[in-house]
Amino acid sequence: MRVLVTGGAGYIGSHTVVELLDNDYEVIVVDNFSNSKPIVLDKIKEITKKDFKFYEIDVCDKEKLRKVFKENEIDAVIHFAGFKAVGESVEEPLKYYRNNIDSTLSLLELMNEYNVKKIVFSSSATVYGNPEKLPIKEDARLSTTNPYGSTKLYIEGILKDVYNSDNDYSIAILRYFNPVGAHKSGLIGENPNGIPNNLVPYIVKVATKELDHLNIFGNDYDTKDGTGVRDYIHITDLAKGHISALKYITNHKGIDYYNLGTGHGYSVMEMVKTFEEVNHVDVPYQIAPRRSGDIATCYADTSYANERLKWHSELELEDMLESAYNYAKKNE
Ligand code: WQD
Repeated sequence: MRVLVTGGAGYIGSHTVVELLDNDYEVIVVDNFSNSKPIVLDKIKEITKKDFKFYEIDVCDKEKLRKVFKENEIDAVIHFAGFKAVGESVEEPLKYYRNNIDSTLSLLELMNEYNVKKIVFSSSATVYGNPEKLPIKEDARLSTTNPYGSTKLYIEGILKDVYNSDNDYSIAILRYFNPVGAHKSGLIGENPNGIPNNLVPYIVKVATKELDHLNIFGNDYDTKDGTGVRDYIHITDLAKGHISALKYITNHKGIDYYNLGTGHGYSVMEMVKTFEEVNHVDVPYQIAPRRSGDIATCYADTSYANERLKWHSELELEDMLESAYNYAKKNE
């Protein structure tokens, strides 16, 4: 089965390409390296000892993307390509709407033209906004608090309308909670440019002394220790969730939404302490004011993905944090 992976050189994309190749899928990667590096492609080949086709293309460029569909008999698509920094999306909303929605429209128009009707879409738990009930189920109220999240919600709506116009489509919308960690080889992982926005890459840079200390954004939330609680999921478990979703849509038409998390919430303080324990390092921190837009607690009800996709997370928090540090040490 031949799978087109847009954004396949990115953090989640690269880990998913590894799992696809390990499961003997034929893979075509499209990426413009706007948030990734060419070296990642070599690392994927080193890990899997397998090759794959690659096109350096901006998915928004429909005529260049058409070449990929012309030259390859594509059976399914996994669509990761898109900007994903929440803070940046608030500062530059039009850049996010133009890129994330235009790229998706180009892709969907070409899929339609070339009769490719199977797609796994990279969505996000951010579409739930501030949850009314916990754990969060897929039928929870949807509301977004930033343009990045809104692009994900709008694209979910576009996919729904595409399915309603043609029930031959098979669509899996995966809502990621908080992906962290790195491949067990330490060859690929999360390597954000500049100062990280997210907690775990920031902790890693403090542990490797690139940054002086962690700022904990608020310790006065209504949580077990006052710090924010999130559902962190190992990137490898998340990648495997894409394989399970791909297998499911191969044999089922329809459109469905799946929470990919562990179902457990950990606080920022628990993350810091666990990171220090498993990696035998210090992570100095200071309590700082709350970050605007943050919510207190967010974790998934994963029963639908467990039952329907026969998928569940397997790796523990210790694995996540050890692998994150291992990757950083190997790639200093
Ligand atoms: C986690 C916790 C912070 C940094 C975001 C996006 C979401 C998804 C995952 C794309 C919170 C605290 C963080 C720091 C801190 N991305 N924190 N100091 O905000 O849950 O989710 O990333 O899909 O869409 O919204 O993740 O890692 O930024 O924050 O105290 O330097 O860590 O307050 O409680 P978040 P995060």
